[in-house]
Amino acid sequence: MALHSMHTHTCGELRAEHIGQTVTLTGWVRARRDFGGLIFIDLRDREGLTQVFFDPDLCSPEVFSAAETVRPEWPILIEGEVRHRIEGQTNPNLATGEVEVLCTRVEVLNTSKTPPFQIEDHIETSEDVRLRYRYLDLRRPKMAANLRLRSDFTFAIRQALHDRAFTEVETPALFKSTPEGARDFLVPSRTQPGHFYALPQSPQLLKQLLMVGGVERYYQVAKCFRDEDLRADRQPEFTQVDIEMSFVTKDDVMGALEDVLHDAFAKVGVDMPTPLRRLSYWDAMDTYGIDKPDTRIGMELHDVTGIFASSGFKLFATAAATEGQHVKAICAPGAGVWGRSKIDKLADVAATFGAKGLAWVAFKADGAVQSPIAKFLSEEEIAALKAEMGANDGDLILFAVGERLAADEVLGGMRNHMANVLEIPREGHDFLWVVDFPLVHWDEEAGRYAAEHQPFTQPVEADIDRLESDPLSVCSHTYDFVMDGYEAGGGGMRIHNAELQMRILKLLGFTEEGAKEQFGFLMEALEYGAPPMGGFALGLDRVCMLLAGSDSIREVMAFPKTSSGSDLMSDAPSEVSDHQLDELSLRTL
Ligand code: AMO
Repeated sequence: MALHSMHTHTCGELRAEHIGQTVTLTGWVRARRDFGGLIFIDLRDREGLTQVFFDPDLCSPEVFSAAETVRPEWPILIEGEVRHRIEGQTNPNLATGEVEVLCTRVEVLNTSKTPPFQIEDHIETSEDVRLRYRYLDLRRPKMAANLRLRSDFTFAIRQALHDRAFTEVETPALFKSTPEGARDFLVPSRTQPGHFYALPQSPQLLKQLLMVGGVERYYQVAKCFRDEDLRADRQPEFTQVDIEMSFVTKDDVMGALEDVLHDAFAKVGVDMPTPLRRLSYWDAMDTYGIDKPDTRIGMELHDVTGIFASSGFKLFATAAATEGQHVKAICAPGAGVWGRSKIDKLADVAATFGAKGLAWVAFKADGAVQSPIAKFLSEEEIAALKAEMGANDGDLILFAVGERLAADEVLGGMRNHMANVLEIPREGHDFLWVVDFPLVHWDEEAGRYAAEHQPFTQPVEADIDRLESDPLSVCSHTYDFVMDGYEAGGGGMRIHNAELQMRILKLLGFTEEGAKEQFGFLMEALEYGAPPMGGFALGLDRVCMLLAGSDSIREVMAFPKTSSGSDLMSDAPSEVSDHQLDELSLRTL
C-alpha cells in the first residue's frame, strides 16, 4: 500500500503476486553488493527490506553508475519491475525474500556520512553511541517495531477507555508540587522572581479535582516527571495512562481496569485472563519476599522456624525462641551442585538486600549434604527441611533470619537473583493484583511515617480509629498491577473527606499550616461535595518494555536519558546564558 506519493509500495510489501508489476520504492540503502558487473542493493524502510537488482544490460548506463555510487544509509528512490528471484537466491527468512525489483530508474535523494554503527539488529555498539545517534538507532528494525508496538498499545488502551465513556482531559505540566515520593523538577517563574512551578510527578491532585468537577470518568496519557535515581525501569520523565473514576467502589474500579487492560492487551495479541488473581501485600511478602512477584519462577519462601526450635545452630534456635523473629528459606533448583566458593559468593548478593550473612544447605547430586552449618544440624532437622522445601538432590536451600519483612526482602531479592542466574524459563506473561497495602511505613531516614502509596489514599474504614495509636497496622484501599515481576501500575481509592485528609497529612508529619499551604486547594475542593473516587495509573513505558520482551524502558522510548539524566544527542541538561539567568532572577553557584 502506497503511503506517500513518492512510492507505490513499501519495502516490506512485495510478494510473488506482484511479479510483473512496475513499482516505485523509497528507503535507505542497507547494503550494496557488487557481483561481477551486477549490483544488488538492499533497500530498507520502516516496513522491511527489498532486494533491488541492477543489470547493466537491462538498465541505462546512468542508472547503473548511480547504483555504483550509492553507499549505506543514502536515501534513494528506485523504479523497476518486480520479478522472481533466480533459483537458489530466494530468502525464506525475509517477507519479501521471494522477489526482487529489476531497477530501471534510480534517484539519489540525499547522501549520508558513514554511520557510526551498522543499522541492523544484534549490533554490539555501546548504548551511549546508540543514544548519541538515536535517529540512526531508530532506523533499526527492532526499534522501529518497538515504537510501533507502543503506538498500537497506546491507541488500543485509549480506544478501550473512550468506548467506556472515559473523557481524556489534559492537565498542566507547569503546576505545584505533587508528592509521589520523588524530588520535583522545578521551573522558575520569570514574572514572579523567586517562585517556581513544579513539573507534575503525576496528575494525582488534578485528577481528584476533575472528579470534584464532575468529570466522573477521566483518563490521560500523561507525561510525569520525577527527579529520582534512575534504573533500567525508571526514567526522569515517563508516561502514565492515568485514570480516575467517581461514584464507584473499589471493585468497580478494579473491574473496569481489568476490562480495559484485557481489551488493550488483546489488541496487541496478548491474552490477560480475567478476573485477575489478587494477592494481599502481606501474602506477597510472605510467599515471594517482594510486593511485585513474578509467580512464574516458583521458588516460594517457606517459614521453617518451627523446624529449628531446638536446633544446635544458635542463630536459628534464638530466632525461633524470639517473638517476631523468623527463619525463612527458598530452594534453588539445581544450584546445589555448584562448588562451595560459588555458593559462598552468594552472601555478597544477599548483602545488597540487607542480609548480614547467608546460611545455606546444598544437597549434592548423590544425596550428600554440604553446608557450613551442617555440623550444627541434626539428621531430623535436615530431613524435615528437605521435605518442607520439596527439595531434590542437586538443590540449594538459602536461609534468611530476622524480622518478618527484613527476612522476606533478603529472600525476595535472592529468589529473583537465582532465577536469573539459573535462567529459569518464564513462559508467557504473568499478571496479578497485589492489594491491601499498609497505609504508611516508617521512613528511617526522614524519621517519620511516609505514605506507602501516596498521601491521598483511603484507609480501610475499620482501621481509621487506629490512625494515631497504631498507624503501621492501618490497611489501605490500594492495588498494584504486577506484570512479569514489575510494578506496572498502581492506584487506590481516595480520601474524599477534608477532615480525614488533614488527619492523614498530620500523621505524615505536616503541620496544619504546612498542609494548607501545599494542599489548601485540594482540601478546599473536598469541602465542596467531593464524590467517592478511586483510580489508577499504568506505567506505559514498563508495560511496553515487557510487551517488547526487553529489560529496559529505554528500548521503548524514542529519546530516553542516560542513568545520569543526560540526553547524549542534544547534550541536555546544558548551561544557559547569563542573560537567561538574569531574566529568571537566578544565579548559579
Ligand atoms: P505510582 O507512583 O505508583 O502511582 O506510578 C504509577 C506507575 O508509573 C510507573 N512509574 C515509572 N515508570 C518509569 N519511570 C519512573 N520513574 C516511574 N515511576 C513510576 C510505574 C508505576 O506503577 N498517582 C499515582 C497513581 C494513582 O494512585 O492513581 C501514581 O503516580 O509503573
